Amino acid sequence: MILPIYVYGSPVLRKVARPVEQNEEGLDEFIDNLWETMYHSDGIGLAAPQVGKSLRIFVIDGSPLEEDDPSLKDFKTTFINPEIIERFSDDKTYEEGCLSIPNLREEIVRPEKVKIRYYDRRFNQHEEEHTGIAARIIQHEFDHLEGILFTDKLAPLKKRMLRNKLNAIAKGKFEVSYKVKVAK
Ligand code: NI
Repeated sequence: MILPIYVYGSPVLRKVARPVEQNEEGLDEFIDNLWETMYHSDGIGLAAPQVGKSLRIFVIDGSPLEEDDPSLKDFKTTFINPEIIERFSDDKTYEEGCLSIPNLREEIVRPEKVKIRYYDRRFNQHEEEHTGIAARIIQHEFDHLEGILFTDKLAPLKKRMLRNKLNAIAKGKFEVSYKVKVAK
């Protein structure tokens, strides 16, 4: 089932999401819906709070960016209760966008490499290091679980310049091809 994507201004995007329990009711169906919603909206990552559910889950399929980085071809995973256990210090700038902040893209600085621990759909634990675009998507999606949006990372002046645009988004003044939910 395709779920509406909550956009900038929705309180759920600002909450710290709660951990997933192993016997969480409806978990399998919810994860299926998360994948379906992400593909429907042409996203490469989607976190549960973006569909109004304050849970520590996100999904990523980096394969559309395979041309930029061939290793993304098979980067397709469900991340449950993820923890970033190490951020390596070498910062990189890369342009980010977000399904919850339609039609806005900005250069954001983040560490180029991270180590992450998470559970997959079968609750097997993994510990992996990711660099480049994969590390970028992971950090962006992880931030959603902490109530952080990429625009929070902009310099104060830039943030001020974008204020009107963000306020317009919060009021639903934008056009996208996917289903959204605007905060009232
Ligand atoms: Ni996002």
